[in-house]
Amino acid sequence: MGEMIRLDRFLAGCGTGSRKHAVSLIKAGRVSVNGTVIHDPGHKINEDAAVCLDDEALIYERYSYYMLNKPAGCVSAVKDRLSDTVLSYLTGVNHDGLFPVGRLDKDTEGLLIITNDGELCHRIISPKKHVDKVYYVICDKALPKGAAAQFKKGLDIGDDVPCLPAKLKSAGAKDGKSSYELTITEGRFHQVKRMIMAMGRSVVYLKRINIGGVKLDDSLSPGQFRALTHDEIVTLKNAAGYTDKEQSDEAVKEE
Ligand code: URA
Repeated sequence: MGEMIRLDRFLAGCGTGSRKHAVSLIKAGRVSVNGTVIHDPGHKINEDAAVCLDDEALIYERYSYYMLNKPAGCVSAVKDRLSDTVLSYLTGVNHDGLFPVGRLDKDTEGLLIITNDGELCHRIISPKKHVDKVYYVICDKALPKGAAAQFKKGLDIGDDVPCLPAKLKSAGAKDGKSSYELTITEGRFHQVKRMIMAMGRSVVYLKRINIGGVKLDDSLSPGQFRALTHDEIVTLKNAAGYTDKEQSDEAVKEE
């Protein structure tokens, strides 16, 4: 037996668009529940109810998962008084309950997962779960020899404890600048910039390209987003330490 939920929320959870759009569809008499047309957006229904839009059956998904190619200049928050937020780029989708998984700095670009699944978010962020986050970093100058070894050992960046081991790989040089792929498993405040600073260099460009084996889709320009595929959600859950049983329990809850 599923939970009771408002009809407009249910509809928005079926990918029909924003909650506002759902309200207009319901008020227009286009939505039926178990064969009866309902005009009240606040009408409570069971998650298992048979809901149709213009006679087409809808499938409700409790959780939504998106990847955004975050552009520079917006903040990783749900609301902000002064700046654009990452959510403002998710046009035409229901924003209810959505939040970014972790934060990228305002000037950082790249892969940001946006979801309403609190448990998955918690696990991806938790340093205990060791979920890889891979960054493409351009530095003002080449990192000193031995940087990779120091990163691997666990770098002291002035916090109570050193960083967890990180992996550094050269990604070539251009216009006198050196680039790298850096894999970390934590998300400390300005962590990558502080790690590079601890090496006497500074970051001139930073982009996250992978989280837990889910790669930023190359076809997304900065500011564009798409829903995660089923395989990407499974990859992310595996990386975040979900057991097979936990994953199948989730699937049953959603049925
Ligand atoms: N590390 C940083 O320094 N900034 C980010 O945005 C992400 C990781």
